[in-house]
Amino acid sequence: MSIKLPIDIRAIKGFLASSEGAALHHLAAEASALGACLEVGSYCGKSTIYIASACKLVDGIVFAVDHHRGSEEHQPGEEYHDPELFDEHARLMDSFRTFRRNIRTAQLEDWVVPLVASSAIAARHWNTPLGLVFIDGGHSLEAAMTDYRCWARHIVPGGYLAIHDIFPDPADGGQAPYDIYKLALASGQFELVEMVDTLGILRRIC
Ligand SMILES: C[S@@+](CC[C@H](N)C(=O)[O-])C[C@H]1O[C@@H](n2cnc3c(N)ncnc32)[C@H](O)[C@@H]1O
Repeated sequence: MSIKLPIDIRAIKGFLASSEGAALHHLAAEASALGACLEVGSYCGKSTIYIASACKLVDGIVFAVDHHRGSEEHQPGEEYHDPELFDEHARLMDSFRTFRRNIRTAQLEDWVVPLVASSAIAARHWNTPLGLVFIDGGHSLEAAMTDYRCWARHIVPGGYLAIHDIFPDPADGGQAPYDIYKLALASGQFELVEMVDTLGILRRIC
């Protein structure tokens, strides 16, 4: 099923294939009936726009968690560093200005709650049931495990856990997202719904 987005999504910097974005959009539309949506790792808002444009259709909401200081691979000298997102004054990465501009341009501000904080801090007093959790934050094992432990427990039965960058073959990419994907399945609390490119989609069964 094709989807209609409020902006030319190709113009938004990011790391999501259009097939993965469309899958997130459909999941968000369905999951919003169960609870709020939450993503860890918004960057410039590509995944946020896919999710929020579905929230707009069904009167849902997406909490967009990102400290906006970049992951390991976004830091100066690393493979995915983007000098346009570097705050020379603070000498730190800062994707928040671009994120905010993109959400505004897409006219999605009423369906997005940015949480500019690290995942662990944002989760500290979290008490809201979630219909969809999308994990696309830091890709170290520690960061991915923190994201899984902080957020998966808030997903209501029937709700979805989507994890980006699943690479069963280590030759294709880092293993931390795949490790938490396997952990979720091994917990007995989640079942596999489908894989869309590198997006693993799980459903909470209990
Ligand atoms: C791969 S990018 C997200 C890409 C985005 N989902 C998209 O569609 O383009 C990862 C993001 O996670 C954020 N991040 C990394 N570790 C984090 C943490 N511990 N807490 C919050 N955000 C984090 C980074 O700042 C970065 O913006």
